[in-house]
Amino acid sequence: MPITAIVLAAGEGTRMKSRHPKVAHKLLDHPLVWWPVNAAREAGADRIIVVVGNHADEVRAVFAGDDDVEFVEQAERLGTGHAVRVVRDAVGAFDGPTVVLYGDTPLIKAETISALVAETTARHNACTVLTMLPPDPTGYGRIKRDESGAVTAIVEHKDCTPEEREALTECNSGIYCFCGGRLTANIDKIGNSNAQGEYYLTDMVGIYAEMGEPVSAICAPDFTELLGVNSRNQLSTATMIIQERINSRLMAEGVTMLNPSMVWVGPEVTVGRDTELLPMTMLWGTTSIGDDCVIGPNTRLTNVTVADEASVEETVGYDTVIDSGATVGPRAYLRPGTHLCEKAHVGTHVEIKNSTIGRGSKVPHLSYIGDTQMGEGVNIGAGSITCNYDGVHKHRTTIGDNVFVGSDTMMVAPVTIGDGALVGASSCITHDVPADALAIERSEQHIIKGYASARLERLKKEQ
Ligand code: UD1
Ligand code: CA
Repeated sequence: MPITAIVLAAGEGTRMKSRHPKVAHKLLDHPLVWWPVNAAREAGADRIIVVVGNHADEVRAVFAGDDDVEFVEQAERLGTGHAVRVVRDAVGAFDGPTVVLYGDTPLIKAETISALVAETTARHNACTVLTMLPPDPTGYGRIKRDESGAVTAIVEHKDCTPEEREALTECNSGIYCFCGGRLTANIDKIGNSNAQGEYYLTDMVGIYAEMGEPVSAICAPDFTELLGVNSRNQLSTATMIIQERINSRLMAEGVTMLNPSMVWVGPEVTVGRDTELLPMTMLWGTTSIGDDCVIGPNTRLTNVTVADEASVEETVGYDTVIDSGATVGPRAYLRPGTHLCEKAHVGTHVEIKNSTIGRGSKVPHLSYIGDTQMGEGVNIGAGSITCNYDGVHKHRTTIGDNVFVGSDTMMVAPVTIGDGALVGASSCITHDVPADALAIERSEQHIIKGYASARLERLKKEQ
């Protein structure tokens, strides 16, 4: 059955004290609003509508390129019920299970959404509410039940009597599954005569109960899944919870962590068995790590693919491919377009950009290699660099197989060094070097015997 998900994200989030909308703040490497959208996606929602308002452009930008997300603009923020009404007015009647999620409730799991949908369809409910029992219910809407235990209404904290605030500890998570047809038919019945003068979506529950429409609640066993993020403090709490969730899963799958509280792995990252993640490692984006690797300490990889048995130590890398058995770092910087082939080595204080380092080739110390195609078995001496930029254009360097480049060599691109060539240390290479040749560009060395002591004597006399 097709499922519609509506994610409310039009609010301001004043408690974040930010120039950016609350839902654009990041939880690990993804903005808050991405999480409920992704959970809905994983739960099989085939239509995902995000309600935007405040800083709408910034919220839309979160989903740039995702063609499964639609947006509806809520120009005036008159409450959560108003937001859903605006969606109905924009896209037409709801049909089938319609899940409503809040953009500031990022820890919700796909399986919980699925359970909510299953309950709604199995019981033919007009609405199923996801509830929770947080240790401190202050601020949350409270669930009211009759003597038989049936849900009769949700009362917002601000609209509760002091007795209700004490007695009602079961809280509304802000996540619901509605029967789309009945939501469309009745949403206009929501009024705004309450403490905040807002149209509350939560009033739907009382409206249905009065009509005799079936409504029920599922109480989440773990309230932390439903933590709302309203402040930076809650953002850091949510970060710790999601970090723990992801790291526990990885360890269960066979990944070793010396200290999981010092490893941060994004939700789309994969890590193979027997790989070790050392402290202060961050793996972001679509990064994937193979088996038997050692990553870290002090490493941040974004959209990096690492094959098996590689080691990456104290490295920052983006949009890079590292083949099996390659070794990187400590203190390497791998920029977009880098490809390190099998068993290549990139060492200390080395920067690589848009270059292929061939199989078994080594760039061990203090080098910059940019826009370069390097063959197999090459050795680049310490301090050697490619001069790929003339101030206007970028140029390519081509280095053949088994080339030996002496230390402190400048390779001024465009330039080609043929297979098996030798380049003498400290050369500035501005012309192509044929295969098997020696290229040396260096001024002659002069020797003046006894010069040092004679100079000292002379300087002393001049005093
Ligand atoms: C809401 C619930 C409350 C529940 C709590 C759980 C209502 C009336 N109350 O309260 O029962 O316990 O969440 O966290 O729904 N939004 C819009 N447009 C609007 C108003 C809000 O898009 O006009 C969005 C906000 O951006 C936010 C979400 O809806 O993502 C929730 O709104 P918020 O004002 O934070 O509701 P709460 O007071 O937290
Ligand atoms: Ca909230």
